[in-house]
Amino acid sequence: MDIIGICGSPRKQATEYVLKKALNTLEDEGYETEFFTVRGKDLNPCKHCDYCLKKKECINKDDMYTLYDLLPRAKGILMATPVYNGGLSAQTKIIIDRCRALNMKDYDILRGKIGMAIAVGGDRSGGQELAIQQIHTFYIANGVIPVSGGSFGANLGACFWSKDTLEGVKKDKEGFRSLHKTLKMFMRFLEKG
Ligand SMILES: Cc1cc2nc3c(=O)[nH]c(=O)nc-3n(C[C@H](O)[C@H](O)[C@H](O)COP(=O)(O)O)c2cc1C
Repeated sequence: MDIIGICGSPRKQATEYVLKKALNTLEDEGYETEFFTVRGKDLNPCKHCDYCLKKKECINKDDMYTLYDLLPRAKGILMATPVYNGGLSAQTKIIIDRCRALNMKDYDILRGKIGMAIAVGGDRSGGQELAIQQIHTFYIANGVIPVSGGSFGANLGACFWSKDTLEGVKKDKEGFRSLHKTLKMFMRFLEKG
């Protein structure tokens, strides 16, 4: 498996739609992908119990264990979040926080992987860029190389304006332009990795 796509939306709506489009594009380019969604999953927040510091694994035996298996095996991480209150979703943040246990197992476990982010907001300027920056901060803190799509259309990554509907996101041409620019860069980095 080359790329793990993680959907931080609890719904089968805009975020899942664009992430799946991105994964399909990557598959068409010859990458093997895996899709993981928080939807319907049992994912508990980090309790800061420090169990992972001693035991090198998380005390919460929930669906995060699927990601504990998939993340270390991927060359690239593609994290997609809906925008909630100007930033990433709580579900996405749970995944980020729970990666502490991976880190405790092996400090370098994610180092050198390539990371890309997608944010989907109901408003045009609803906090997509901050949500992407939150994901990029996670990448940087873990040695994952964050990629943007570059200037002229995808400055930080893929930003979507869903107008709160699936139909809305499907019509967001600029959003798809930012997605394809960022995917292009993602693939360039993956080939060099
Ligand atoms: C709790 C909550 C907070 C939200 N806050 C924002 C926000 O700050 N900015 C924004 O653009 N959209 C916000 N939205 C709208 C969602 O980002 C938008 O509907 C998005 O398409 C949801 O992703 P989904 O379609 O994959 O569920 C919020 C939605 C919820 C449920």
